[in-house]
Amino acid sequence: MEIKDLKDAELASMLKSKLMRNRNSGLEASELHLNSEDMEWWRDAKLGFFSHWGLYSLLGRGEWAMFNEKIPPEEYAKLADRFCPNKFDAGEWAELAKEAGMRYAIMVTRHHDGFAMWDSPGSFEGFHSGNSAAGRDFVREYTDAFREAEIRTGLYYSPMDWRFPGYFQPQELADNAELMKRQTYEQVRELTTRYGMIDILWYDGGWLAHSGSDADAAWFWEPIRLNEMVRENQPQCVINPRSGWAGDFQCDEGLHEVVGDIIPFDWEKCFSIAYHWSYEAEERALPLERTIRLMLDCFVRGGNVLINVAPNPEGEIPANQRELLKQIGRFMNKNGEAIYGTRPGPLQPVDGVYGMTKKGSQLYLHVMDTAAFDGMLLPPFPYPVADCRLLDGTPVVFEQHEQGYIVKIPVEKWEPYDTVVVFTIAE
Ligand code: GLC
Repeated sequence: MEIKDLKDAELASMLKSKLMRNRNSGLEASELHLNSEDMEWWRDAKLGFFSHWGLYSLLGRGEWAMFNEKIPPEEYAKLADRFCPNKFDAGEWAELAKEAGMRYAIMVTRHHDGFAMWDSPGSFEGFHSGNSAAGRDFVREYTDAFREAEIRTGLYYSPMDWRFPGYFQPQELADNAELMKRQTYEQVRELTTRYGMIDILWYDGGWLAHSGSDADAAWFWEPIRLNEMVRENQPQCVINPRSGWAGDFQCDEGLHEVVGDIIPFDWEKCFSIAYHWSYEAEERALPLERTIRLMLDCFVRGGNVLINVAPNPEGEIPANQRELLKQIGRFMNKNGEAIYGTRPGPLQPVDGVYGMTKKGSQLYLHVMDTAAFDGMLLPPFPYPVADCRLLDGTPVVFEQHEQGYIVKIPVEKWEPYDTVVVFTIAE
């Protein structure tokens, strides 16, 4: 969602997860962090698939509709009787994610409306897909299908639940808030014990009454205790920072640009190619150019990218979003060598013009604006260069001057989004 289209609590929720240049303020518990080695697959993977799909998809006005429109929980609950997504095929989603070059996936298993997308014994008042018209366990279908497609499998879960008045008044309605908390612990236990290996746990909404930060609400949620349980059940799981515990990586949410220097810790940007996170009748899709640009701006600064789709109530991903994913796939297929498994640098990016990634003895210069780059002096690399060519093997003239380097990319080789120059470091 664009920042200008959001207001009140929904806006606060987004801003809370906008990456600051320093680590955000979750509680520390260093023994909970994965070690650097266990994070390597995640750093290498670069691109993930995110899907917001649930009862709110039936309304077509975004996943905050229940709260924004003050729909009473009893009224909202009736949507479950209409939730029968006969066209949902987790295998098709996984194939599409694979074609898009996505190497991990995060499914929204339960958003703030409280509706669990699996057969959840711990759900307060049995508000889950097993009891809906569908009578299915979507978490099971999704985890099976994505694993089968060899895509690392993660789950999004919202600790908070709007159905509980205690969420809004945790002190005054402490008993009710306690019921909500119990549900969270129970459901996180279910998600981390019933579906095999969970590669990523992606919390969202570990705050209270939509105010303050997740860390401010830690007195209530006890995120360290919660994540100790997760670690016990899933020792290798990569955990995001949005439960109030600092987490294994940082999040940056939304469609705003990423500029400036390389960000020196593990981070991930998530955004929706449908603008809203969940289905809207308008069925918009982000332009390819903006999507690729956001992706590159993250990759050259060390960030992963989690791209969200908004499937319709029947469980299908709208055609224009599917098409965009396929185009992303063509881009990743062509340039993946310079993206997957890389680390950012050695040069700092120049906003809108270029940035670099590196892997083994190769340095990759991603030129995003070839016209602006033409004739530009690059600062010298901290390594001697033995060879310089384009990703397709075309040799490139590379002048090493005292003050820096000039790379001459033949005009007929200029690419619209990313012209990749590969430097091989001398032994
Ligand atoms: C925000 C939104 C929420 C969405 C999430 C994804 O917190 O409020 O609806 O699920 O971002 O990052």
